[in-house]
Amino acid sequence: MSTFDFGIVGLGVMGRNLLLNMADHDFAVAGLDLDTVKASSLEQEAGSKHTIKATTDVAAFVALIQQPRAIMLLVPAGKPVDSAIQSLLPFLDKGDIIIDGGNTYFTDTDRRFTELSAQGIHFFGMGISGGEKGARFGPSLMPGGDKKAYERLRPIFEAIAAKVDGEPCVEYLGNGSAGNYVKMAHNGIEYGIMQLISEVYDLMKRGYNLDDDTIQRAFEDWNTTELQSYLIEITGHILKKTDTDGQKLINVISDWARSKGTGKWTSQNAMDLQVPLPTIDAAVTMRDMSKNKPERIEAATKLIWDTETAEVNLPEVLESLKGALYFSILITYAQGLALLTTASNEYNYDLNLETVTKIWRGGCIIRATVLEDFRKAYAKNTDLKNLLLDDAIAGQLNSNQANIRNTVQFAVKQGLPVAGLMNALAYFDAYRSQNLPTNIIQAQRDYFGAHTYERTDAAGTFHTEWNE
Ligand code: 6PG
Repeated sequence: MSTFDFGIVGLGVMGRNLLLNMADHDFAVAGLDLDTVKASSLEQEAGSKHTIKATTDVAAFVALIQQPRAIMLLVPAGKPVDSAIQSLLPFLDKGDIIIDGGNTYFTDTDRRFTELSAQGIHFFGMGISGGEKGARFGPSLMPGGDKKAYERLRPIFEAIAAKVDGEPCVEYLGNGSAGNYVKMAHNGIEYGIMQLISEVYDLMKRGYNLDDDTIQRAFEDWNTTELQSYLIEITGHILKKTDTDGQKLINVISDWARSKGTGKWTSQNAMDLQVPLPTIDAAVTMRDMSKNKPERIEAATKLIWDTETAEVNLPEVLESLKGALYFSILITYAQGLALLTTASNEYNYDLNLETVTKIWRGGCIIRATVLEDFRKAYAKNTDLKNLLLDDAIAGQLNSNQANIRNTVQFAVKQGLPVAGLMNALAYFDAYRSQNLPTNIIQAQRDYFGAHTYERTDAAGTFHTEWNE
């Protein structure tokens, strides 16, 4: 009885919630998990109003799904994906589709796409953003793969995705691993924005000695301004949360920030492609810095900077911090999107950045009001090399320069680490520099390594015997 519309392998948090979301939209969905408890509890949770069948038997699972079959894997990235594919293959037919919905490194998707295409199976790598609630009620979906097969997937993905202005936050992004790559860049931007928020929080707490409630109200208020976004919103919620003893929970959470690696991948591949992402790089680095607590405790006794108590004109301080944060968040998106521009050419994804920014407007972790401004910028100029070259975005950056410069100056005086904010400003100042001092590096390289240099007043390459 192959009458089910879709199948999901892996009934953990993401798989179960996506399956229930699909069933809420009247799709008949089959679930597979080797864990009998996960399989049986899902059917109980679904109740009679949904058409759901969950099983631990691969053959029975595949047999339920109408051809061409569409089966999504929600299993941990890496070998579990390959194992899941191998367990399905004996029961699949040519024309069937497998979608990997995990945070998979894009070259793994390229390999699987090639291997499965040779067997007549269509393969997709799809970024899924929005966490548990997003999966259940409306994620942002970033599919890439075999365009021919996408029409089989479009109806169900558009039904379950988050909606903004009535438009689903999902579009076919490009061939092969395009979807995974866009999700990786999404996570790099996510790391950057989270780092910037943490730095502004630190400036309020350790720099201006503001009380916890004032800081919480600031983030809550900022979420009604141009800073409106999921990450600002949840920060306001986090800072309100009290522990069982009535104290603010945030004040007893360890400062060791972990990561599963997607931000690091973004920095690594950006360096391979020679795309500067200093704010995202700083975010990855600061997670690593947060790890070495014992050293930092020892260093705090040796490396001393005495600071004066800062004067606080609260409205002015908050306005300056808000502007600095907004400036730096704009720069962070610009860096991540510039990476996508280069990667699209390098890997032949043929990405449309108006589409990417459109589907990031809702459902995903980096969703924000400002994404509509970015969508308009790319709609206006499909060849836009960098958001900083869009007149409207450039205007917003210029009008916040005093805020970022004053904020970085304050952080320097107070001895507070604001690597993200500093790198956002440095990126801005470097990007707008017609002439950079990197000519001295060329001269040094030629001096000690005879690596040659180019000139501004003559074509060709040159070498100088510097010691003569
Ligand atoms: C999302 C998130 C998610 C991410 C986790 C862990 O878009 O829903 O980006 O995919 O993997 O939040 O991220 P880190 O452990 O790398 O911080």
